[in-house]
Amino acid sequence: MEEYTSSIRFDQRLAAVDIRGSIAHARMLGRQGILDAAEADALVSGLQALLQDIEAGRVSFRVEDEDIHMNVERLLHERIGPVAGKLHTARSRNDQVALDMHLYMKQAIAEVMAKVRELQAALVEAAERHLDVIIPGYTHLQRAQPVRLAHHLLAYFWMLERDHARFADTLRRTDMMPLGAGALAGTTFPIDRVQVAEELGFASLYENSLDAVSDRDYLIEFLAAASILMMHLSRLAEEFILWTSEEFSFIELADAYCTGSSMMPQKKNPDVAELVRGKTGRVYGHLIGLLTVLKGLPLAYNKDLQEDKEGVFDTIDTLLPALTLFAGMVRTMRVREDRLAEAFARDFSNATDVADYLARKGVPFREAHAVVGRLVLEAIRRGTNLAGLPFEVYQAASDRFAPDIYEAVALERVVDARTSRGGTGREAVLAQLNMAKAVLGE
Ligand code: ARG
Repeated sequence: MEEYTSSIRFDQRLAAVDIRGSIAHARMLGRQGILDAAEADALVSGLQALLQDIEAGRVSFRVEDEDIHMNVERLLHERIGPVAGKLHTARSRNDQVALDMHLYMKQAIAEVMAKVRELQAALVEAAERHLDVIIPGYTHLQRAQPVRLAHHLLAYFWMLERDHARFADTLRRTDMMPLGAGALAGTTFPIDRVQVAEELGFASLYENSLDAVSDRDYLIEFLAAASILMMHLSRLAEEFILWTSEEFSFIELADAYCTGSSMMPQKKNPDVAELVRGKTGRVYGHLIGLLTVLKGLPLAYNKDLQEDKEGVFDTIDTLLPALTLFAGMVRTMRVREDRLAEAFARDFSNATDVADYLARKGVPFREAHAVVGRLVLEAIRRGTNLAGLPFEVYQAASDRFAPDIYEAVALERVVDARTSRGGTGREAVLAQLNMAKAVLGE
């Protein structure tokens, strides 16, 4: 029974915030005259000393003491005697654990946001470094139109920007203090919740005690934002996995982010990218897990709520290294310009531009589309691309073609013709890069 119900195995990571909350609570009890000054001082200095011991690893927690709150109280009792028992005046573990999680998540969300920024900075840096590298762009995973690699990388910058905003928004609802709700109904003691909220740096407090001890919305929001972030990372991971394959060979990842095979000597596997893709599953699982724990749960506290922690902690532990490693992987990746040149030698992703060329000369686009379709077939038959077709072939296909068609199909020209805002042309990408840098405060 003790093993089954105890949470100390995973909630010991709340020790520091638990003690911070208790110190603020003890000070308030003293100021309000609920405890006398000497008692409050004894609690505060005892808790401070205990925190140092815990941080130095000089303390052992016991499963019999169930959770971090009871363990801290027992350890405090061992140090300062029976006055330790006064700490829990006007408080329940229900509002205490809610407070701890809010304090913990405020830090964790800020850390995740900083790591998101780090990856965004790595993407901007790589985009700038490879501004003039052109890669095939795909739809249906079929060659579509060429794009700048910088443009492709910056697409992820903006996804991460929305992720960052989602975490910032979650943080606003995490920045609320539940303490003072008691077990569920408030307390008979003359506490001052505003004092405690100010001391702990909360922007606001819960206005309903039942809500305060029962709310886990902010954790669900965190898991939802984390799931979307992991979904973005796993898409980038998938692209890196494809791009490093022999078949694509657009980039090469630094050895530090890859592993070999125990059997096949030639292998260089993109393990980090694969694990990020794989670990996305557990984060989604935690979101559905907590949503399901909360579904139909009556007010107020129920022990089910203890199940909020492991999934949230595991999500934090999954996100932080994924973001760090991804930033390093992006910073150190090498672009295979040789292989990209080969890829474009057998490429028709400038076909739209030939059709646009005819359309600009008055040929209805649908007709132009058909003409270019026939030119593509002819080029395939001759083992070349659109730039490699002799001019007679163009002339035979349509009398609107002039020799400047060869300029129109040149790769840089094709890309830079996409001058529309948000497009892949050099000027448009430079403008985008500047906006991204402004977001980062550069
Ligand atoms: N370990 C508990 C949790 O994480 C703390 C609250 C316990 N409250 C209670 N009434 N048993 O939810």
